[in-house]
Amino acid sequence: MARRGTDSTTTRTGTDTPTAHTGTDTPTARTGTDPTTPHTATGDTTARAVTAPAGAPAAELRHHGDAEVRGDGAALTDLAVNVRPGTPPAWLRERLAASLHSLAAYPDGGPARRAVAARHGLDEDQVLLTAGAAEAFVLLARALPARRPVVVHPQFTEPEAALRDAGHEVGRVLLRHEDGFRLDTAAVPDEADLVVIGNPTNPTSVLHPADRLARLARPGRTLVVDEAFVDAVPGERESLVPLLGRLPGRTVVLRSLTKTWGLAGLRIGYVLSDPGTVRTLAGHQPLWPVSAPALTAAQACSTPEALAEAEAAARRFDADRAHLRARLAELAGAGVVEGTPAPRGPFLLVGHPRAALLRARLREEGFAVRRGDTFPGLGEEWFRMAVRDRATTDRFLGALRRVLT
Ligand SMILES: Cc1ncc(COP(=O)(O)O)c(C=O)c1O
Repeated sequence: MARRGTDSTTTRTGTDTPTAHTGTDTPTARTGTDPTTPHTATGDTTARAVTAPAGAPAAELRHHGDAEVRGDGAALTDLAVNVRPGTPPAWLRERLAASLHSLAAYPDGGPARRAVAARHGLDEDQVLLTAGAAEAFVLLARALPARRPVVVHPQFTEPEAALRDAGHEVGRVLLRHEDGFRLDTAAVPDEADLVVIGNPTNPTSVLHPADRLARLARPGRTLVVDEAFVDAVPGERESLVPLLGRLPGRTVVLRSLTKTWGLAGLRIGYVLSDPGTVRTLAGHQPLWPVSAPALTAAQACSTPEALAEAEAAARRFDADRAHLRARLAELAGAGVVEGTPAPRGPFLLVGHPRAALLRARLREEGFAVRRGDTFPGLGEEWFRMAVRDRATTDRFLGALRRVLT
């Protein structure tokens, strides 16, 4: 059934039934106010398919959590950026420091590429090392054919910004709070020939099942899954990497070392795909695109010991998130809600009718959280916060209680 991309309230069937959320004055995904125009989506869907405003990306698409902790914000407890606390670990800093001795030589990406390939059970020619996932978004936007690119929102905004910078008109699928921001594959227009989705998704913390993501793959389409945070999920559950080479069409998985290893300033990530796609993307990179220290990090973070450390950290995130959620649930009566009933990322989307005001007051209390309104599909009634250790969470919840009264 063809459906215009309006805010329909059709109930979906299957296991993906929307779960009721707690709280009285429940925030909803922004409706009606998007400066976007509907276009055709197929299927019986509750999510909206719309077209992003034409032209260069608006400044709000270029707002990221780091803006909340710059300048005066540097003194705040940072719950706005989702880099794992206490990173990079000492052993990694030592490896990076040692790599400085070889700075006189041009970097050789071979060993790092082989280490990343081995870590994922792939061939070397399926790996492209990049200056963070951010570079990969630009390469994809510039190098791959896309007549109808679609980004599934709310999500990290750089993929859409990069596509628009490359001159593309971008379609948006807006998942909804009422559905726990879970993926509604039917909302993605059939004609979309490049689809970008995050897993787990920033900022909603939804971990989409891999088999549902796989339903988006089809001949003639590039499916891009941004897995920048999947190493913070125990077992890297629901990663699409095991399905690479087994899905129709082109599949591209993006990874980042930024979050788990505290390497935002180093710029290192990678693309996993088929050899042809890797060659095409590499053809749009400059010579020596990844520095020697960044290559050292890619190699060092691919060892079994590093993976075990990441796994232990992912399990800690699970426990710390459970504590944070339990404490937040105590505030349901005060109108605090969660974005999704089963968050799996190292951050939470938190809603409150006065979230923008709370965010400002939290800054006065010494805490930076990330505004929600710059994410397409969300409004001022949301903020995103990092999962931290219990002591930090308890301090934060004390502050949140104070600003709620
Ligand atoms: C979901 C997501 N993907 C990708 C990135 C960019 O990562 P990188 O530092 O590897 O460029 C970010 C950064 O915030 C992110 O949140």
